[in-house]
Amino acid sequence: MKQKLSQIKDLAMESLNKAEELKDIDELKVRFLGKKGELTKILKGMSSLSAEQRPEIGKLANEVRSAIEDKLAEAKNNLMQKEQQIKLKAESIDVTMPGRINCIGHKHPMTIVIDNIKDIFIGMGYEIAQGPEVETAYYNFEALNIPENHPARDEQDTFYIKSAADLLLRTQTSPVQVRVMQQGKLPIKIIAPGRVYRADEVDATHSPIFHQLEGLVIDKGITMGDLKGALAVFAKELFGENTKVRFRPHHFPFTEPSAEMDASCFACGGKGCRVCKDSGWIEVLGCGMVHPKVLEMAGIDSEIYSGFAFGMGLERVTMQKYSITDLRLLFENDIKFLNQF
Ligand code: DAH
Repeated sequence: MKQKLSQIKDLAMESLNKAEELKDIDELKVRFLGKKGELTKILKGMSSLSAEQRPEIGKLANEVRSAIEDKLAEAKNNLMQKEQQIKLKAESIDVTMPGRINCIGHKHPMTIVIDNIKDIFIGMGYEIAQGPEVETAYYNFEALNIPENHPARDEQDTFYIKSAADLLLRTQTSPVQVRVMQQGKLPIKIIAPGRVYRADEVDATHSPIFHQLEGLVIDKGITMGDLKGALAVFAKELFGENTKVRFRPHHFPFTEPSAEMDASCFACGGKGCRVCKDSGWIEVLGCGMVHPKVLEMAGIDSEIYSGFAFGMGLERVTMQKYSITDLRLLFENDIKFLNQF
């Protein structure tokens, strides 16, 4: 019997050493210590022993039982620790791992420039006005002193809406001037940015759709001096504090006198470079004093009120500012191009 007990003990120790999962331990507990377990069987057979043998075997059996119990507890503890470790490892966070990059977009270069120009004029007290892109020939031409058969209509060939002979896609933002004047509220101090259209072939400097920004100031006693002062400030804000401007005589049907304004090149300061094509100047906008005929047609008394107007191509300003040499880049939305801004 002694031998049997030590066999059970050895077997139990060996089995517990090999146990890999908690459920193995539970099974071994039943197998060795359970009601029908191996140790219990021995204890049940003790009745057949002599009175001298009984205490000795009893003591030994108790020792074996407590050894197995200790070993069970130890094995269980080990396995629980091992499982905990595995779980922790699975849940661990590597704080040195690079984060996920959130791709957020940004403004298109045209939008950057338009917002910039809007901010400059808003800072000077201008309000933003809007007008329709599908316009009547009256607002786009007649009311701006460009009657039918005027050669200026040829330069601004556009898309006509078939169903209505008089409807077209506006060729300039100037019709917004007329719409604002007709509202009858004076004085006026507005800018009107927006899309315009012309029946031009696409190339590096032409597009059938582009953007302009119009400006109009009307009040009593407005002079060419006001025009020059306002636009000189604008040029400094847009291109830098040291920017100079010059005005060249020009002709627009809706202004008299008319001029084109150049700014000293922001890239070379006027010395001549690639950006200004070695001239030292860059062409920025057309402008002039609003023609009395235009004021009268819109219901404003040209004896009392006067004003100035200006208009600029926004693609051109953007291309100059960023040294973009092909207009098409602004419309193609190639991500490799746009990511540079
Ligand atoms: N509308 C003109 C164009 O498209 C630009 C322009 C010139 C607008 C002079 C004006 C102005 O208001 O005064 O070429």
